[in-house]
Amino acid sequence: MSPGETAQAEERRPVIKVRDLVKRFDGRAVLDGVNFDVYEGETLVIMGGSGSGKSTMLRCMIGSLVIDEGTVELFGTNICTATEAEMNEVRKRFGILFQSGALFNSMTLAENVALPIQEHTDLAPEIIDIQVKIKLELVALREHAEKYPGEISGGMKKRAGLARATALDPRILFYDEPSAGLDPVTSAEIDHLMIDLSKKLSVTSVVVTHEMDSAFAVADRMAMFDKGRMLCVREKAYFERLRDTPEESVPELSEDEQLIRQFLRGDPIGPITARKVASNYAEDLLGLSETDRIDKTPSVVTTRTKAMK
Ligand SMILES: Nc1ncnc2c1ncn2[C@@H]1O[C@H](COP(=O)(O)OP(=O)(O)O)[C@@H](O)[C@H]1O
Ligand SMILES: [Mg+2]
Repeated sequence: MSPGETAQAEERRPVIKVRDLVKRFDGRAVLDGVNFDVYEGETLVIMGGSGSGKSTMLRCMIGSLVIDEGTVELFGTNICTATEAEMNEVRKRFGILFQSGALFNSMTLAENVALPIQEHTDLAPEIIDIQVKIKLELVALREHAEKYPGEISGGMKKRAGLARATALDPRILFYDEPSAGLDPVTSAEIDHLMIDLSKKLSVTSVVVTHEMDSAFAVADRMAMFDKGRMLCVREKAYFERLRDTPEESVPELSEDEQLIRQFLRGDPIGPITARKVASNYAEDLLGLSETDRIDKTPSVVTTRTKAMK
């Protein structure tokens, strides 16, 4: 049995459950009926084009946005109805790596990593020092502990952000576009670090990205978002097969599969680009998004819903 099959054979415990989630901004559904689980120890990659709702999804999962319908459960706690005290307990159990690393520039790397530990625990300063050294060592920055964010490279800032995200030994790590703005080599380094952390800390990871090399490098399972809908969530092998489907077999794929294939391959021609061409130029000029159009065109929704079943 391959390692993947072994993992599948074991009982998979969801640490995150998302059910019928709807999130609207100004009356417009940006996430429209999203359902999925994230299992303990896995790395789930959330992909999708710009504006498809990935970051919004992440913010709903960590409770930083209030959702309009449905539920989000983390570690069995419904975060939509949780009290502030319950939510604080949940917050201690996940870490987030923001796009910029979001470090405090007036603090050294060590101080940045120490901050969440000081805020959330009563540990003695010398114990915190040890913790900080361990976290910085994990991301190979221990020798740079006394530097300030302004003195280090973009890749190092990401690593420092990651050290801070792991400060409280989280069970889940959320990443939003971890390789954005990095050169390909540094970006690959961050991928390796994510895989390494996931193994060393046996942490569950949710990674939002539109960079396919990174997605395929780190994922166990992948989910594809398109205009606020999750088209599918499957094992990585399914997406590899779609990506590698030869041109002559494309007509046998469903509409959604063709769309996902184009996305995975970064092809200039396919359903995604066809849709853009078909969208009304005047509406485009007026700044109405595709989602606006679709909300007003039920026939399109019906087709898509049918294809998903
Ligand atoms: N705070 C907000 N207020 C209004 N609209 C928003 C807000 N945040 C995101 N949106 C809209 O929601 C949609 C999805 O955004 P986002 O989740 O950031 O997409 P992605 O991360 O996939 O690029 C976009 O159309 C965006 O303009
Ligand atoms: Mg985003």
